Amino acid sequence: MKQVTLIATAAMGLESIVAKEVRDLGYEATVENGKVIFDAPISAIPRCNLWLRTADRVKILVGKFQASTFDELFEQTKALPWESYIDETGQIPVSGKSIKSTLYSVPDCQAIVKKAIVERMKLKYGLINKLEESGALYKTEIALLKDEATLTIDTSGAGLHKRGYRVGQGEAPLKETLAAALVLLTNWKPDQPLIDPFCGSGTILIEAALIGQNIAPGFNREFASEEWSLVKQRHWDAAFGEAEELANYDQPLSITGSDISHQMIETAQANALEAGLGDLIQWKQMQVSDLTIKQKDGYLISNPPYGQRLSDKEEVEKMYHDLGGVMQNHPSWSTYIITAYEQFEKAFGKAATKKRKLFNGFIQTNYYQYFGEKEN
Ligand SMILES: C[S@@+](CC[C@H](N)C(=O)[O-])C[C@H]1O[C@@H](n2cnc3c(N)ncnc32)[C@H](O)[C@@H]1O
Repeated sequence: MKQVTLIATAAMGLESIVAKEVRDLGYEATVENGKVIFDAPISAIPRCNLWLRTADRVKILVGKFQASTFDELFEQTKALPWESYIDETGQIPVSGKSIKSTLYSVPDCQAIVKKAIVERMKLKYGLINKLEESGALYKTEIALLKDEATLTIDTSGAGLHKRGYRVGQGEAPLKETLAAALVLLTNWKPDQPLIDPFCGSGTILIEAALIGQNIAPGFNREFASEEWSLVKQRHWDAAFGEAEELANYDQPLSITGSDISHQMIETAQANALEAGLGDLIQWKQMQVSDLTIKQKDGYLISNPPYGQRLSDKEEVEKMYHDLGGVMQNHPSWSTYIITAYEQFEKAFGKAATKKRKLFNGFIQTNYYQYFGEKEN
C-alpha cells in the first residue's frame, strides 16, 4: 500500500488552521466539520504526527458507506481491506458514535464492526482460532452521521496536544493545540518581542518558542503507529531526520511570561525546561498592573482569567482595564486576548480590530485581536 486517506481531526473553529498546516506540509486538503481530509503517501503519517501543531489526532480513513441496517454495516465493514493496515497480532479496540442515524445503539455498532473486522482478518491471514490481539494498538472508530458510516484507525495514540513537556499545570491550562493556534492566528515573527502577562503554566509561550525555532511539536513523544509494520522504520527515521534538520535552535527569541502566582511561574519554567527550551523564555512573577513594555512592534498574546464566577467580575474588569491602559501607550504592539468575558472590549477600553469565535474546551470564547500600528 502506497497511498492512504488521512483525517486530521480538529477542534471546532480550528479546521482552517489545521488545513493550512496540512497544506504547508505539501498535501492537498479538504475541510469538513471537525476534520481535514487528504490523500497522502504513508510517509505523511509520521510527518503529520510530528508536525501538526493544531490538530487533535491523525487517523486513517479505512472506508465510508451508507448503512441503515446491521447487515449493511457488517458486510461493508468486512469488505474493507483491514489486513492492509492491521498486523496479524494487532489489538483492535473499537469505539463508536452515532448522530442522527437509524443505527443508534453504539455498543451494537461497535460489536458488529469488531466482528466484521475479525472475520476479515481471519480469512485474509488464514487463521482458524480467534485473533491473538497481543501486538500493536489499532484504535478503530465507527462514526455514524445521518446513516453514513465512517471507519477510521487512529495513528497518533495519545492526542497530539500531549507534547510530552507538561510536567505541571494550573487550574485552567490551555490545550497545547489551541495555544499553538492562538499564536498561528497572529502575524508574530520570531524576531519580534512576545509577552503573556497571564502566562499560567506557560503554554502559549512554549508553543510560540517551538514555532519560533521551527521545532516539531511531536519531537519528544511516541505515536501508536510507530509500532505498526504499515509505517516502515525508514519513514519514521526520515521524518525525525527532517524535523532535526529544520529545527532552527539558533533563532534568537524575545519571549517573556509573567503571572501573579509564584507557583505558576515555577511550573511554567519547569514545563519550558522539559520542552527542551532551557532558559530561552524569561519568566517573572508580576501582576498585570505592573506590566511595563520597553520594546517596539511586539505581540501580547494571552489567556487571562474569564471572571466566570459573579464574585470575580469586578476583579477581571480591573485587570482588563489595567491591561488596556498599558497597551494604549504602545500603539505599535498587537494585542490578542482569548476570553469568555463578553464585555471585554468595554473593560479594555477599545473595540477590537477583529474578533474570532473559538472554543476553549466547552467554553465559548472570543479571540479579540488588536493590530498594532505600523510606522511608515
Ligand atoms: C486562565 S489562566 C492562564 C493559563 C495559561 N494560559 C496556561 O495554559 O497555563 C490565568 C492566569 O492569570 C493569572 N492571574 C490572575 N490574576 C492576575 C493578575 N492580576 N496579574 C497577573 N496574572 C494574574 C493566574 O494566576 C492564572 O495563572
